[in-house]
Amino acid sequence: MAAAVKTLSDQFLDRTTGTADTSMSMIPYGENPAFLAAYIRYYLLVNTPKLIAIFEDSGIDLQTISRVLDIGTGPGTAAIAALIAGYRCGIHSSLDIAAIDHSAAFLRTAGNLIRRFRSLLDRPGTDSFSRSFPSLPSPLTDRSFMPSSQSTGSPDLILVSNALAEFDTSLQNRLPDILDGIAVPGSYLVVMEPARKASARRALHLRNVLCTRGWAVRYPCPGDYPCPALECPRDWCHHRLTWTAPPPVRTIDRYTGMEKDLLNFSPLVLIKPKPMDSTPVVGPTDLSLHLGPLRIVSELRSYKGKQEITVCGRFSTGGQLMICMLENKRLSRYNDVFPDLARYDRIRIEGATRRGDRIILSESSRVIRLENDGGQE
Ligand SMILES: C[S@@+](CC[C@H](N)C(=O)[O-])C[C@H]1O[C@@H](n2cnc3c(N)ncnc32)[C@H](O)[C@@H]1O
Repeated sequence: MAAAVKTLSDQFLDRTTGTADTSMSMIPYGENPAFLAAYIRYYLLVNTPKLIAIFEDSGIDLQTISRVLDIGTGPGTAAIAALIAGYRCGIHSSLDIAAIDHSAAFLRTAGNLIRRFRSLLDRPGTDSFSRSFPSLPSPLTDRSFMPSSQSTGSPDLILVSNALAEFDTSLQNRLPDILDGIAVPGSYLVVMEPARKASARRALHLRNVLCTRGWAVRYPCPGDYPCPALECPRDWCHHRLTWTAPPPVRTIDRYTGMEKDLLNFSPLVLIKPKPMDSTPVVGPTDLSLHLGPLRIVSELRSYKGKQEITVCGRFSTGGQLMICMLENKRLSRYNDVFPDLARYDRIRIEGATRRGDRIILSESSRVIRLENDGGQE
């Protein structure tokens, strides 16, 4: 099992770091019993909590979701995470799930697991499973993916989890059209990719294209402005969560030397169409900046006598990234959350000053950690 996980991990790494030839689709590893078992025993367990965190942090109202489409479903990971996140909010209304994959074995597994979770979590609804082939996602284009009772309905939640990296270049290029064609006003799109440069940048590129078509970002960005990470070829954006890995994951990690103490992933939630917008411009350029909401996109960096974080937002300077700095001697009861801030926290700042590309906090500057109820105000 560990050997199969390691082989899969190396393959995923090639794809997500951009060293593989993306004009080719990946081999359908779901058809290989050892890889299929390894995916279920390891990656299903590792990916599900990341997706649940995205549902919970992005403020999607799961109560309003009744039709889900999971593209590249694998063992049903993202659909199962949607069922669990709904259960955690006490939702038991009907949820129709349509899942697409090019592996028949993955689709059978997804069918079994989704049925099991439906019954465990008391969530009725219909399921439909459609097989697509690597270069042509035919169920998407002919819309035969929804359960027959729902064939005229469009999904109000579209999930693409860890699949972008496996789509060949042609499918990636057509994806914005395909998604835009399937979604209706109010449909959410949840994308999750590994926190690797190539795959995360693919998700950010998809975000930018959809934003030019009027989609709005709900998470993690505070606005629909072009993603600043794409301006520098070295940059990307990702989240990092601590977790306690369950025993099967810990055991496999012992054999492979892989470590899953931290869950790193690049999440993205968009909605079609853009409601009124637009993103608030966060703060004047004068000497008493009131800024927010901002998304922290780095770890806290500690230097001699000061600490810094990088924040993302649409600033009145015209930029989207700024460094926020607090000298240790300026720590006060107004800004005492600063040393505890972490990647992807959402904050508001009151009463700071600006020096070049830096936001400078003083003793009287307030730093307020906001609820994670979506990326924008
Ligand atoms: C890394 S797995 C992700 C599975 C699941 N979504 C998750 O997050 O755990 C990628 C999935 O995408 C599927 N896939 C890759 N290319 C595809 C394509 N062109 N059409 C349909 N499914 C595809 C693979 O078979 C595989 O199940």
